[in-house]
Amino acid sequence: MQLPPRKVLLNPGPATTTDTVKTALVVADICPRETEFAEVMRQVRHDLVKIAGGSPESHTAVLFTGSGTAVMDAVLNSVVPSGRAVIVINNGAYGERLAAIVRCYRLPLLELRYPWGEWPDLAQVEATMKAHPEASHLALVHHETSTGLLNPLSEVAALARRHGVGLIVDAISSLGGLPLDVRQENIDFLLSTSNKCLQGMPGLSFAICRRQALEEIREVPRRTFYLNLYQQYQHFAANGQMQFTPPVQVIYALSQAIREYFAEGAANRFERYRRNWQTLFAGLKQLGFQTLLPLERQSPLLTTVLEPDDPNYSFDKIHDACYRRGFTIYPGKLQAERTFRVANLGAIDYHDIQAFLRALEEVLGEFQVKIPVIYH
Ligand SMILES: Cc1ncc(COP(=O)(O)O)c(C=O)c1O
Repeated sequence: MQLPPRKVLLNPGPATTTDTVKTALVVADICPRETEFAEVMRQVRHDLVKIAGGSPESHTAVLFTGSGTAVMDAVLNSVVPSGRAVIVINNGAYGERLAAIVRCYRLPLLELRYPWGEWPDLAQVEATMKAHPEASHLALVHHETSTGLLNPLSEVAALARRHGVGLIVDAISSLGGLPLDVRQENIDFLLSTSNKCLQGMPGLSFAICRRQALEEIREVPRRTFYLNLYQQYQHFAANGQMQFTPPVQVIYALSQAIREYFAEGAANRFERYRRNWQTLFAGLKQLGFQTLLPLERQSPLLTTVLEPDDPNYSFDKIHDACYRRGFTIYPGKLQAERTFRVANLGAIDYHDIQAFLRALEEVLGEFQVKIPVIYH
């Protein structure tokens, strides 16, 4: 099979994949109800629990066909009992999305809003738990992909544990790329997808669930037909199958991506991503770029860059010229500031980042943007 030319994706997923993951999509046609496919799915679910630090006795992986938002929707609509509420920490676009989903189901929402890129006020988080015993769960984003902010997960997790509040963590852009342990943090529902730090294909999202927390949602009213967590869990428990058609080829590709994850080793993957980020950050600084976040809040996965004030600078032009050279950068999401984003996850290494930095410098020169770039 002739493979297409390799591209370096510096958007935060779907990420660059290996050729072996790409070719794993090509399998003999198979009915997903066959035991042969059920075995692939069983192994994938088992491995996902392991990657998240869970144990098969106390945790299980519930898979959904759909992008990351599908599992956010499924978990939020399925875990909150009637008359109870959810606390959502909103300090970025994905915290905003968690809150929007809760609102969409008209569930009682206790939204703690902070400026994008700021950490939550832990005293306020705790005061909210104390003042609202009706709050059954708290949801937060581990790595806010909208800015590159890493939230203080352990601190929030400790508060949730102390006050008996269930913990939902959106680790969609961090699982597999940063150390994360559902047992250590006492996470009830950890959400992620196949196509970011796990380096698989898009189309599958999943929740790593504490089994006991799943049993506790048995009586929660069913608020949606398709994306119901308990229903899906029951199907997996009964016959190892999804309730509806699974994305068969995407699961084969994920199975290959997981093999590659274990072959690389978690610590080596974290280190590769960290080195990518260090190379990127140093290179951007050398070109004079300013970045949004102070280092203590900055993840080693994605950097938000402030756009220079040079009249010759245009994101679209820079993007297109980088794209023609095989590098994809990503627009910013902030409203108040003009920014763009560069992620460094996926099947790429620091040589790719160095090549990107050379391309970026060349492109800036081509458009006569002053280097080091200027800010007023
Ligand atoms: C932290 C986080 N949560 C949720 C999502 C939503 O995932 P999707 O766009 O795959 O639905 C993303 C996607 O980038 C994300 O980074």
